[in-house]
Amino acid sequence: MNNNYDLLIRNATVIDGTRAPRFEADIAVRDGKIADIGSLKNAGAAQVIDAGGLIAAPGFIDVHTHDDRLLFSDPAMTPKASQGVTTVIAGNCGISLAHSPKDGQKTPPLDLLDGDGAWFRFPSFGAYREELAAKPAALNAACLVGHTTFRVATMDRLDRAATPGEIAKMREMARESMASGAIGVSTGTAYPPAASAPTDEIIEVCRPVGEFGGLYVTHMRNEDDAVLDSIEETCAIGKALNVPVVISHHKTVGVKNHGRSTETLALIEKKMRAQQVCLDCYPYIASSTVLRDDRLAQSTRIIVTWSKPHPEFSGVDLDEVARRLGVSQKEAVEKIRPAGAIYFMLDEKDVQRILSFDETMIGSDGLPHDAKPHPRLWGTFPRVLGHYARDLKLFSLETAVYKMTGFPAKRFGLSGRGVLQAGAHADITLFDPNTIIDAADFKNGSAPAKGVHTVIVNGAPVWAGGKSTGILSGRLLTRG
Ligand code: ZN
Ligand code: CU
Repeated sequence: MNNNYDLLIRNATVIDGTRAPRFEADIAVRDGKIADIGSLKNAGAAQVIDAGGLIAAPGFIDVHTHDDRLLFSDPAMTPKASQGVTTVIAGNCGISLAHSPKDGQKTPPLDLLDGDGAWFRFPSFGAYREELAAKPAALNAACLVGHTTFRVATMDRLDRAATPGEIAKMREMARESMASGAIGVSTGTAYPPAASAPTDEIIEVCRPVGEFGGLYVTHMRNEDDAVLDSIEETCAIGKALNVPVVISHHKTVGVKNHGRSTETLALIEKKMRAQQVCLDCYPYIASSTVLRDDRLAQSTRIIVTWSKPHPEFSGVDLDEVARRLGVSQKEAVEKIRPAGAIYFMLDEKDVQRILSFDETMIGSDGLPHDAKPHPRLWGTFPRVLGHYARDLKLFSLETAVYKMTGFPAKRFGLSGRGVLQAGAHADITLFDPNTIIDAADFKNGSAPAKGVHTVIVNGAPVWAGGKSTGILSGRLLTRG
């Protein structure tokens, strides 16, 4: 009996993350890597898992997260580990903890990361990285740094373009971050603190992204009437920097833009012929962010997710809040801010069309510090696998897995991740293809999904038997 493996998964149905058809195999793990895949009848190991009837897939990569702080404040990463996620990409939508602005919590949407300010204490990305190395989480993380964070840290007022001196300071922040292992810069020009940043400012701040071979990732300036202009701007920035671009949580917002994903995807396809463009998407018809009144006209329903002055309204519909306060919805927004909300403003057909698009990856955009979060935080990956792939047959399970493993690993440059092959890092998720499904919904957004059996990160089980094992085997991942 050959007993020199650390872990052996027997009788698995392997979906390997490359989009290839599933096959039956045993998987052997040694020193955090996959040592062998195949028929390993005579092998033995310190720990053996019988996976009869379960799928073994590469651990899922959540390409769009705001988990910068969750990595420290809930190192078990429960909302993500419970879904089978093994790697998160943090620092999206222009917001990151580094380089921490003083009183960052006072400028929405930075307050999505921390409403009190205690976590805005990283003078550089290097400092953030050092703390993560000293206090690892259960899951791997790769980090973007945010242009909005840089602006708040650099500028005295945010309603204007940055001066050449301010641009130089922000470019230094980007350079330090890239040199310390960030994988790229994100922007969020849809939000007030960055809305006055012209295209040139973004290009000049992001120069180091090109020098270090990173990514440009963006919550675009406009996702409603001017969404096509936004795609043009995004691609122009990618071209100027000569870097791949990722369009975050792609959608077309507001009733009059429903159906327009046919136009946006056609434009993206055209752009892809000349440069590298891809996108991510979450599987819901409602979005979520800070509470803002310009969303009133675009939404058919708004649910408050948190409110600093009025925590009692968490989970309550905005029209009900307005009724209880005896004011209009617009006035209610003023009264209960700072706050967050869920906005029903997307079209199911658009969601399905975007999810099915070849270059679409899966990203939750979950907001882990909301009192009553959007269900995407806990449900995104099982919902794609169970609802969209199995029940609606939008695509095969192999394609669904590819969109959350091999494809994002390739696009984000996470080498040795996202595939189940000998030599790859042993990030593995075992799930039941017949029962996997999201349990979180718009009433209760914080329920762990069903059907996820075991989640392994760098060779160690971090989630098993419906709970965290307490093992913190995640690492900071860099590009290359
Ligand atoms: Zn965003
Ligand atoms: Cu986001």
